[in-house]
Amino acid sequence: MVTATTADSSAPAHIQAYLAAVDDLFNMELRSEPAQVQQLVNRVARFRGKMLRPSLVLLAGLACQESPRPLGRAHVVLATVVEMSHVATLVHDDVLDNAQIRRRGVTINHLHGNEAAVLLGDLLISHAFYLCSSLESQTASRLIGRTTNIVCEGELLQNFRRRDWNLDESAYFDIIYRKTASLIETACRLGAQESTRDVTMIDALARYGRHIGTAFQIIDDVLDITGQPATVGKSLGTDIDKGKLTLPMIHFLATAAQTHRELLIGLLESPEENRVEKVRQLLIPSASIAYARRRARELVDEAMETIRILPDSPARATLLDMARFITAREL
Ligand code: IPE
Ligand code: IPE
Ligand code: MG
Ligand code: MG
Repeated sequence: MVTATTADSSAPAHIQAYLAAVDDLFNMELRSEPAQVQQLVNRVARFRGKMLRPSLVLLAGLACQESPRPLGRAHVVLATVVEMSHVATLVHDDVLDNAQIRRRGVTINHLHGNEAAVLLGDLLISHAFYLCSSLESQTASRLIGRTTNIVCEGELLQNFRRRDWNLDESAYFDIIYRKTASLIETACRLGAQESTRDVTMIDALARYGRHIGTAFQIIDDVLDITGQPATVGKSLGTDIDKGKLTLPMIHFLATAAQTHRELLIGLLESPEENRVEKVRQLLIPSASIAYARRRARELVDEAMETIRILPDSPARATLLDMARFITAREL
């Protein structure tokens, strides 16, 4: 049974206390002796995101129980490890994307430079594996390790394919599965397999995670074009700025008239300062944003269908709500 000191009032009631325990463990594990290191760590720990991945570990754990009972320490540890790995990738990603804002705060790279951000990301991932090794079973560590390998491969592949205007949908889906959906899939699988041995339930949760994770990144890519930085709380337009083709751009290049296609590539290659804004203005009224949103909705519908085999429970209801949130979100 897990006790917690604080609670997040925006979290679903049945996981509030567990999420507060995740928060506490996150902060406790990252305690560092050198004051300068601690200061840097505090900066990251102060800005909380949506806590999507730890929530999924906990909800998958609750949704797979044969009879309702409190979750144990393992679920809280796994949820914390997943969030720590995620935050590590964000700190590194902001270096790659030269981002200035994350979680409504200034990024580490912008405040302290790329070197500090790279090293802090390494520290976070190291802490994640140290914490994970406190679990009795090696199964989770291996799964998380395999997943972070895949996430790194995704970010590397995306980096290799920058400014490649021939990137097609299948390469895009491979990249976003690796860099984003794989960790969300793993969050669900970890939570489920800690509660049950029923492979059908575990696989259903993993498939749900894979589909909502893919939809999540598609919407993130849409928001990079259509979103308001004040609402989303992070730097936007970085995909355009860095020449990373996303689904709306890929669809536009494949379907728009030749003149429009040339216009988009010209802007993406142009050194002019307001090219990001011009790309936005070209894409926002096009059918390509609606197309990307539709693809995300289809994946969410599939994810929801997948977990209908689970017994009816408040946790399953929240998982269904979370799937709906993926396509409705503006942040
Ligand atoms: C951001 O993830 C990185 C992507 C995979 C798009 P989130 O949007 O879940 O980030 P936080 O945790 O809420 O900050
Ligand atoms: C980030 O993708 C995915 C990972 C952190 C692995 P993005 O670059 O689209 O994420 P944001 O938009 O910066 O959050
Ligand atoms: Mg980014
Ligand atoms: Mg993005």
